[in-house]
Amino acid sequence: MLGHLWLWVSEKPRVERLVTKSRLTKGIVNRFIAGDDLEDAIEVIRRLNTQGIGGILDLLGEGVKDPEGAQAATDDYLRAIKRVEETGVDTTISVKPTQLGLSFDKGQCIDHFRRIAAEATAIDMRVEIDIEQSEFVLDTLDVFRILQIDYPDIRQAIQAYLRRTPVDLETFAAVKPRIRLVKGAYAEPDELAFQKGSEIDNQFKFLIDWLFEKGTDPAIATHDSKLIDYARFAAVRTGAEKTDFEIQMLYGVRTKLQQELVEQGYRVRTYVPYGSAWYPYLMRRIAERPANLLFFLRTLVRG
Ligand code: FDA
Repeated sequence: MLGHLWLWVSEKPRVERLVTKSRLTKGIVNRFIAGDDLEDAIEVIRRLNTQGIGGILDLLGEGVKDPEGAQAATDDYLRAIKRVEETGVDTTISVKPTQLGLSFDKGQCIDHFRRIAAEATAIDMRVEIDIEQSEFVLDTLDVFRILQIDYPDIRQAIQAYLRRTPVDLETFAAVKPRIRLVKGAYAEPDELAFQKGSEIDNQFKFLIDWLFEKGTDPAIATHDSKLIDYARFAAVRTGAEKTDFEIQMLYGVRTKLQQELVEQGYRVRTYVPYGSAWYPYLMRRIAERPANLLFFLRTLVRG
């Protein structure tokens, strides 16, 4: 509830101006975001690689409203892929469909994705598609459905909090899809999304079982220990090895657990966001945890 309220408040332009202009927020920004530049993210991923953790490179930015913006984001991703090739870091790349123009031109968005997927595939790098607000879910799954014909390694994120997700997923059963399973990070109404933690967890577990049975190389993206344990047991139950699935977490969250899982022989990837458009991403991270919200508000008030 507090999280929903915070997401609503954070959409007010005055709040955005206050937060983005304040130097006081630097500490919390640095905790969750690798830096403004691609090189900052590459450096973080290089460090993660030395700990046995793979990266998921994410250029911050969403809700792009014009073709120039979508083209610019595509060019930035192509530059990032080139840089990954030059540095040899172990990372995938994760892209928000609205960054490539999904909200105004699905065809153009698919074209941009195709270019990114082609360049990434050429250097044996995987592409992942983020999932955003519910109004974009159907179009995003269409993009995935089309792309995975030519690029079967592409991975789609899906949200356990959406009531419709099991039905959507079932439509992909025949292709044994590569999926990243997340709880869901946006404020959605009760008609569309479970609101109670227990209900979201139940659906998350149902979807874990589905992915181990009918998916390919499932990625379980959560910091929730009980769901990670559930995935580990699902692997044992279905005869999967520790390396037959992936555990994904966010940069700056539960870093000790990430390391412990690697030491136990699991495959771990960390989502590493970079860029100057960090505001909505940071607000979602703050909304996820009351302690983050209190820390953040205290920082702003105390100065
Ligand atoms: P939950 O929020 O219940 O957290 C469990 C525990 O983890 C907490 O008790 C706390 O200890 C720790 N924790 C979680 N979040 C924290 C935070 N921000 N700060 C500090 N501690 C925290 N969502 C989406 O809608 N579309 C997407 O494409 C993606 N992509 C994505 C990729 C990856 C790799 C991850 C890990 C997550 C996403 N998400 C996402 C975000 C996801 O939907 C969800 O909002 C967050 O992962 C938080 O939910 P948890 O499953 O971690 O559980």
